[in-house]
Formats: sequence, structure tokens, C-alpha cells
Amino acid sequence: MAVVVVGSLITDIISYVERLPQPGETIRGKSLFIGCGGKGANQCVAAAKLGAECTMIGKLGSDSFSEMHETSFKSLGINFEHVSRTDEAFTGVAQILVEETGQNSIVIVPGANDKLGAENVRKAVALIKEACVVVAQLEVNIEASVEALKLAFTNEVKIIFNAAPAASNLPSEVYQLSSVFCVNESEAEMLTGEKVDSIESADRSAQILQERGCKVVLITLGSRGAYLKDEANNGILIAAPPVKAVDTTGAGDSFIGALAYYMAYYPKLPLQTMVERSCQVAAFSVQKPGTQISFPTKEELPEELFL
Ligand code: RIB
Ligand code: NA
Repeated sequence: MAVVVVGSLITDIISYVERLPQPGETIRGKSLFIGCGGKGANQCVAAAKLGAECTMIGKLGSDSFSEMHETSFKSLGINFEHVSRTDEAFTGVAQILVEETGQNSIVIVPGANDKLGAENVRKAVALIKEACVVVAQLEVNIEASVEALKLAFTNEVKIIFNAAPAASNLPSEVYQLSSVFCVNESEAEMLTGEKVDSIESADRSAQILQERGCKVVLITLGSRGAYLKDEANNGILIAAPPVKAVDTTGAGDSFIGALAYYMAYYPKLPLQTMVERSCQVAAFSVQKPGTQISFPTKEELPEELFL
């Protein structure tokens, strides 16, 4: 198994609006989209759509929302054996508003995702051991994410840790055990106290994360691309191609899924090239509405991305 993702599955309910409502105000939306989301699931689907062999480890409720995820994952050929169901909570839901600029605001209710425990991750130890890359985030119970990090680390499997959604006071393992630590600007600020609004501040923030034990640090910068600071302390800004965004929901996840794909299938490529290519994959996704449904397949992308 090339890529194992431990993380969230969430039903995204997206309303497309002209602008965000004020408190107490009701506005009329232009259209609605209901589809599969959740950071973990998005990253897994992004990698699978590029052709990666993937396993998902996660938790759904025992409700009708859970079925859409199962159907979609199975149609993409993703191993779904380690996605279990609970009767104690609903499938996670995200209420998302997307403005005309493509920018979004999101409220998530993780529900069943919080019930994913370390024991659920341990059950998949055989798959983790033989994986090329394990990917984890912060949208499930943190114990599950830390267990994934520990199992991957002890078995010398590469780890992409995405410290999202933003949180503070993370356990030291998330810094020390990850091979690539990835955050966006606001997550970086939450963790380091450094407002990321320039290359210099991105570098300072990455430096703080490395002092806590991170090896490679990646700070995604939305339409500007990503700042990469490697193990030798060299920092570089990697620009994203300019595109017209209609919906940026899950763009960061598309980037991470693509990076996992390149780390698993093109391990000899320089990291910088992997990040450049992943930025291109994410730029494709923002030009279409929806979350997983907007992620490109290998066939939709330029051949140069697969040389
Ligand atoms: O990163 C985007 C994702 O965050 C959405 O799919 C939504 O489910 C939230 O979890
Ligand atoms: Na999109």
C-alpha cells in the first residue's frame, strides 16, 4: 500500500453566496453542493485520483451521510476496510459558505471523527508498515493521529503531518516524528505566534517549528504558493500558477494528497519539484466547485507532471 491516510471524513454542505451574512441577517444563496469532504478523506482522494494505491483509516456515523463516503471511496478503488462506524455520533458535517471570490468560511462538527481511537489505527499496523507514506492531520481525535505518527516512525515510513485545522499546544511527537510538517499561514501563526505575511515571516515561523523538532517544513500561502524550508535550513518560495479561483475548499488537501503521491511514486524527485507539481494540482482544483469532486485525475493534468 503506497499511501495510508489517518484522518477525517466529513460531509461538506456548501452554499455559494455573493457575500457572507451579518449576524442576525438572512441572505439568499445562489446554489448548493453536498459532497464528500474532510481533510483526511480529501487528501486520500487527491492521491488516489492521481493514481496512488491508498488506504483510509477513519470513522463515520451509522447514518445516511456515511453512505456517500463509502460509495465514493469504493468507486475510486480506495481501501475502505479501516473506516469503521459508530452509533455514538453522527458523520462529521461541514457547513461551508463560498463567496464570489472563491474564498470560504467553514464550521465543522467533527462528530464521529472524534471517536477514531488509537486502537483503530493499531488495527491497520500491517498496512502502515508496508506503506511508503503515512498522512495525518488534526481533524480526528489527536490520539489517533499521534498513534499513526508513532507507528509510521518506528517502521521508518515517511510521514506528512498536516497540523490542520489550526490548534495550539500540540504534543511534541507531531513535530519530532514527521518527515514533512505542513501548515497554512494561519495555522503557522497559531503554532508559532509569528504572523505569516511575507517570505521573512514564513521563514521565521518555519525556523521555530524546526527548533521544536520538525525536519522539512512547508507553509502553504494560498494563491501565492508555498514556502519550503528543507532539512539543511534552506528556504524557498514556490509560486503557484495564476488561476481564477471559483472554490478554494480543500485546495490545501489537494496539495497534500499530491505531495503524498509524489513522495510515494517519485521518491527520487527533488522535494522542490514535488512541491511545484503539487501546487499545480491544487491550482487545478480551485477552478472547479466542490471539494473532492474538483480534484484532478492524472488524465486531466499536463503530462509534464508525471515525467
Ligand atoms: O480542508 C477542507 C475541508 O475542511 C473541507 O472538506 C471540510 O470538510 C473541512 O473539514
Ligand atoms: Na474546488
